[in-house]
Amino acid sequence: MRREDVSLTVNGNEHEISIEPSRLLVHTLRGELGYTGTNIGCESGVCGACTVLMDGKPVKSCTLLTMQADGAEIETVEGLKTNGELHPIQEGFSQEHGLQCGYCTPGMMMTAVDLLKQNPDPTREEIRDGLEGNLCRCTGYQNIVNAVESAAEKMHSGGSHE
Ligand code: FES
Ligand code: FES
Repeated sequence: MRREDVSLTVNGNEHEISIEPSRLLVHTLRGELGYTGTNIGCESGVCGACTVLMDGKPVKSCTLLTMQADGAEIETVEGLKTNGELHPIQEGFSQEHGLQCGYCTPGMMMTAVDLLKQNPDPTREEIRDGLEGNLCRCTGYQNIVNAVESAAEKMHSGGSHE
């Protein structure tokens, strides 16, 4: 079986790996590299469970071949915590009960991190629009919107890192 060398930086850690050309990024992250915080739902680009940031932009990692991420910087949910401190978005989900089964949560958080980067003071409508590519099977959207709103407030008050 043909294999390709790929270099990925994940949460600041450099990885050189050799993978089958057809290997999806989400499978490489979870399988070869052990970043199992990124979940797999639909595997067809619909649910957003597999969302990670690639060079700062949210991507559904089930829609990309690992080779397409060669040389990229990837951020996963494991990278949100810094120096033992939760990211404001993690605090928001925890305090506002934004997770039920928690399966969609990592993808929701990565999308929300980008949303708040683009729009630090979103309305509830804008939060809903920004998260529309991420599905929660528990239908807990109300608290998820509260969680993102609370993270935005925390980030404004300057109490936590970005
Ligand atoms: S698993 Fe990637 S979008 Fe659903
Ligand atoms: S919390 Fe259950 S899928 Fe979202």
